[in-house]
Amino acid sequence: MTAPMFTPSAMRVKRSPIERVSALIGQGTINLAGGSPDPSLIPLEKLREAYTQIIEEYGAKSFFYPGAGGLDQLIHQLKKWCATLDIGGGEIIVTSGAQHAITQLCAALLSAQDAYVHENPTFVETMNSFLFYSPQGEPVAVDDQGIQTSILESRLKTRKSPPKLLYTVPTAHNPLGVTMSEERRKHLVELAQKYGFTIIEDDPYRPISKPTRTLYSMSPENVVYVGSLSKALAPGLRIGFVLTTSHALAEKLRDLEQMDFSTSTVNQLVTAKILESGLIQSKLGDLREHYASKMRLMLESLRENGLEPIYQPQDGFFCLVNTNTYAEELLLKAVKLGVAFVPASEFYFDNTGHTNIRLSIGPVDKSLIPEGVNRLVKALNQNEQA
Ligand SMILES: Cc1ncc(COP(=O)(O)O)c(C=O)c1O
Repeated sequence: MTAPMFTPSAMRVKRSPIERVSALIGQGTINLAGGSPDPSLIPLEKLREAYTQIIEEYGAKSFFYPGAGGLDQLIHQLKKWCATLDIGGGEIIVTSGAQHAITQLCAALLSAQDAYVHENPTFVETMNSFLFYSPQGEPVAVDDQGIQTSILESRLKTRKSPPKLLYTVPTAHNPLGVTMSEERRKHLVELAQKYGFTIIEDDPYRPISKPTRTLYSMSPENVVYVGSLSKALAPGLRIGFVLTTSHALAEKLRDLEQMDFSTSTVNQLVTAKILESGLIQSKLGDLREHYASKMRLMLESLRENGLEPIYQPQDGFFCLVNTNTYAEELLLKAVKLGVAFVPASEFYFDNTGHTNIRLSIGPVDKSLIPEGVNRLVKALNQNEQA
């Protein structure tokens, strides 16, 4: 084939730094990069049992096409899951993870000329979905209380028309680890009501975070909620969902799922079985504490070496650290010394953040965190000497 002529949309989608770094992680590398949960918390035995039970119960039908919008068995369980997490009610559309939910929402709601606001920094992978549909992203800075709604408000005041969408990760932000304060949540929702834009609340860390009010519960008409079982159960199952009070949006998402046939039938049934058993619901407190204790150890190890995160992470997997050195070069040295992290510049959409790195406590074994930080510090020292 001659050199393909890619579409402008495809040209805007880039390989994320997380994907790039994953390819560098070999045996013996301490992984402070990944967004997967701790492998010791993925309930392998329960999953094995659930797959066996589903195959016995449904036979070959476990492997039929799933149909658009999700299986009734899973939707029923997800409604209860939402109630457990105080998320609110509405129509549920099952998706292949939060990532797929956001891609479908962008396909449904975003045309190439539509503006959307997003946090800066923000999760680089979901931005690919936004960028595919529209290049008109407008970054607004985040601090330790979440998106800076005063900056947003002054921008909204001077705009001729409001942005169509606002994308936020209010709880356990990726990559900053901060959780939006109640006051900012209220202000953000008021702005959405006043100026008439829709908030996409991307909330995959809620099950492993301290309870907060969802933006969705504050104003269901102005917010579309995106949930995921990737962090509390397993990302490889690819189970997420959209929750909305708009029947028209729910129907459109079902239409759009005809384009990719969405989520594996057997994985939906297995997830429904696991949710029905109450297994993860009974462990939510333990999950939160497990990750909180890993984060405490990460912060302690950083502090012992004179490093501090930009903001104190409140929940989730990530913290962001300014290394005062070009992070891409540091990564090459660090990988040679056996530790991986994600250079954070691509989480920024204003050409900043080149010296920042995202550190994760997700998949790494807790006992390896101090040594991971030691190796990072060695790489930093080598950099200074060079
Ligand atoms: C903020 C955020 N949104 C979405 C996702 C994707 O989640 P899922 O595995 O449900 O697609 C992640 C995964 O790391 C994330 O951190």
